Order: sequence, then C-alpha cells, then structure tokens
Amino acid sequence: MDNYVRIFDTTLRDGEQSPGASMTSAEKIEVARALARLGVDIIEAGFAAASPDDLEAIRRISREVSKIAGARGEPPVICSLARANKGDIDKAWLAVQDAPRPRIHTFLATSEIHMKYKLKMDPEEVVDRVVNMVGYARSLCTDVEFSPEDAGRSDPKFLYVVLEQAIKAGATTLNIPDTVGYTTPDEYGALIRGIVENVPGVENVILSTHCHDDLGLATANTLAGIRNGARQVEVTMNGIGERAGNTSLEEVVMALQTRRPVYGLNTGIDTTHLVRVSRLVSNYTSIVVPPNKAIVGANAFAHEAGIHQDGMLKNQETYEIMRPETVGAQNTRLVLGKHSGRHALKARLLELGYELSDADLDKAFERFKTMADKKKVITDADLEALVSDELLQSHEFYKLDDMQVASGTIGMPTATVRLIGPDGQKRAVAAIGTGPIDAVYKAIDQIVQVPATLLEFSVHAVTEGIDAVGEVSVRVSANELPGKTMTYAETERVRSYGGYGADTDIIVASAKAYLSALNKVLITSRGGD
Ligand code: KIV
Ligand code: ZN
Repeated sequence: MDNYVRIFDTTLRDGEQSPGASMTSAEKIEVARALARLGVDIIEAGFAAASPDDLEAIRRISREVSKIAGARGEPPVICSLARANKGDIDKAWLAVQDAPRPRIHTFLATSEIHMKYKLKMDPEEVVDRVVNMVGYARSLCTDVEFSPEDAGRSDPKFLYVVLEQAIKAGATTLNIPDTVGYTTPDEYGALIRGIVENVPGVENVILSTHCHDDLGLATANTLAGIRNGARQVEVTMNGIGERAGNTSLEEVVMALQTRRPVYGLNTGIDTTHLVRVSRLVSNYTSIVVPPNKAIVGANAFAHEAGIHQDGMLKNQETYEIMRPETVGAQNTRLVLGKHSGRHALKARLLELGYELSDADLDKAFERFKTMADKKKVITDADLEALVSDELLQSHEFYKLDDMQVASGTIGMPTATVRLIGPDGQKRAVAAIGTGPIDAVYKAIDQIVQVPATLLEFSVHAVTEGIDAVGEVSVRVSANELPGKTMTYAETERVRSYGGYGADTDIIVASAKAYLSALNKVLITSRGGD
C-alpha cells in the first residue's frame, strides 16, 4: 500500500446537491480551476445525466481544466457520476472523454433497504447489473470507479461479493459510501479493513472513502478508513453536500499534515490555497462558512481569552497547532495601492489563483481603483470578494446600473433602482418597503419579474474596520422557472438558488446578491449561461 492519499473532490457533484448550492457553468469552471490549482487528484465535475447543462459544464471542465497540473505534475482526473445504466454511462463518457485523464464513476445500492424499496431488485440482479455496467463503463474508459451506495448499511458479506465482481468486471477504484452518515469511526474502519481482508483482487485497485456528516462523524470516519487501507478520500470544500454534508476536504488534509507522525501519509494539496478556495466555494454557492468551522472559519485562528492571548505572546505553540499562513488564513495586506497599475493587479490575482480574461481584468481593475479610493488598506480577502462579485456580475442577464435609497426613522424607506437588462436597455423603478433592503428588493422584483421568495439573507464584513467590504449572501426559492418545463430531476435540484454580492455599501451588496440569485433562476430557465 502506498503512502499517498488521493484527494477526490466532489464539491461540484455531491456538494452541489446541497439545497440551493447550484452553480452556473461559469462558476463551476472557476471552482474546477481553483481545485486543480489546490492540487486535488480527481475532480468529480458533476452528474452528466442530471441535465444537459450539467453535461455541458462537465465537458467544458474536461477541456479547460486539463492544462493545470497538480502536485504530481499531471492534470487532475475529471470524473462524471452515472447510475448503473447504459444511458447514464454513455452521457458520463460523452462529458469526460475530452479530458486527458477521464473517469466514469458508476454506482448501485447494495443495502437491503435500498435494494428492496428503492431499486426493487433482488441481490442476484444487483450483482448482475454491477458486472454488466462496470464492464460497459470499462469498455469506454480505462478508469472506472464503482460505488455500492449505502455500503455503510449493507451486509458486509454481500458487499464482498459485489466488490469482487466489480473488480473482475474492470473497476479500478472501489468507493465505499456511508451514504446516510450512519456509521461510527470504529465501524467504518472495520468495514474498510474487512474489504481489504476479504475481497480477492482488492490489492490491485484503490479503495476510497465517501462519508456523510449526519452524525458529525464524517472526518473521523474518513480518517478511520485511511488508517485501515483507503488511499482515496471523497471530500468537498467546506464539507458541503446532501443534508448535513460530506467530509470536509480541508479537515482531512490538515489532519494528515498536522498529525503526519501518526498517519505517515501525504497528499498533493497545496494547503496555502485552502482558505481562498473555501471562500470561492462559499461565495458561489452562497453557503456561508460558520465562523467556528475548523481550518477555514473566520475564528479558526482567533484567540479571544486573555489567558490564551498571553500564552500566544509567549509561544505561539501554546494554543496554535497550525500556523494560519499554512492554510492561507493570514489576512495579507495587498502591497498594491491606489497608484498601482493593471499589471500589478493581474500579477497579484494570479498569485491568488485567479486567471481573468482581459475584459474581466479591466472591470476588476476599475473596481479596485474605486475601492482603493474608499479604503486605505486593501487585503487579499477584499480583493477576493471583489473578484468573486465581478465574475458573478459579468455572466448575468440583469446588471445593477445605479441605485439610490432613502431611509431613516421618519417616513417610508424608498429605493430607486436602475438595471441593465439582457437587451442592453436600462430600466428604472422606485418602490417603498418596510426597510431599505426590502424597498430595493421590491424595485428589483418589478423589473426582473421572477416569481421568487427570499429564504435566507446574511451579511458579514470581510475584514475589520468601519470601511470594511460587506459581503451579502442570499437564498431564494423559485419553484417554477419562467417559460421552462422541468424534468423531475431538475425540479428536485433547483428549488433554491444562492446569490452573492460584495461592496463597501451593504445595501448595494444586498442588491447585487439578490440580483445574482434571480439571474441564476433565469440562467437555469434558459438552459445554461
Ligand atoms: O453518498 C453516496 O452514496 C453517493 C454515491 C453516489 C457515491 O454520493
Ligand atoms: Zn454522497
């Protein structure tokens, strides 16, 4: 068994299945690029059969992300999920075949409850289907992963049979999902150990973990899997995913690195990118990272209690097991000032991992100059907020042109909003609300006319100080999409949409966030961006 743990990132597939986390193709490509630079070994770019948009996004990632080499000098493997049927497998292959290193990942449930009630198949039929579909996938692609869904609740003896047959049919990676996050670390470790000891041929394939966090045990289970022989881990940035989410990439990577004497294992991750990629994913999915989240939370390296601060001043290791700069959490002050040029900005953005087109760079530069006029000190975090905001706005149907708000203790809060529509026409509307943000949102609603309900709204400052950039994340629900009949799978997946906006004025940031969520509804209804 080697001492390298492959990082299989499923932020764009299982992560995107989090309620409201749907991203546009442009956002997915940006995230895939960031993951490649972070050094992940495999990117599960989506579920090609879910919709034509998903298939197209995976195709684009397969072509565009292949130029970025990771830790081992190779581009990441690009993978698509597929149910165990020919139609799904064909779509998965179509989506990934242009990648220099493609993979098809197919799955079929093996627990009694799933086989009986969901699949309505008996165990023999399941084994036959696995043999046929893994074999079919292998006839198309040399890299095939098989997952027995709900392995955590499957009979281990049956699992051994299914896995042995999957290997014989050509699977090169066997992934063991704890689909409902039910197992404990001892149980999950024993499950992996049992597979290592009882499945003929397992020594020729890679064993993988895939843990969900329903009991808050996903990271512990994943580490138990590694200790017992797994050499691939399926993880997401910030732990986003179905229900309580998946295992957090950053937690597993930093546990392996910080406790190397215990595990003796390596990954190819450049940990200094972790916080940046975490912010990018949070901005694009509008899933806010809790301040106390391990590794990437805003408080992960903050020391409040006097006794801790005193200890830190004497020796940082008293209360710090990792240095903030190891994960890119230091709030680096941008060495650029308001007199810096476009080249300096471009170079800094490249260092931060953003490769902007000339047009996007021009807009970012304009915004940077405006921000530098308002704020004396610009941090990397400010710059990341600015670029996320700019990239989001640049792919939108409706853009904010201007707005003015009157509010206070007397009278009715009123907002006048002017938007540029998809046809380039400007339209201005005024509205009254219960507060300034309500008034702005009512004015936007009158122009955009998407039937949506605001579900969540949160605002936070990117850095300290009165002049801080404010970031706003919203989530809206839109059960019907204007002018589009959706398949069942689409209705299931697209019920809520996140939006993100950043500005030194939080009412402007709020308007941008709401507009970006409505734009996502429109982009989905018109089939891609
Ligand atoms: O949780 C799960 O079982 C999955 C599989 C499709 C791999 O996500
Ligand atoms: Zn999963």
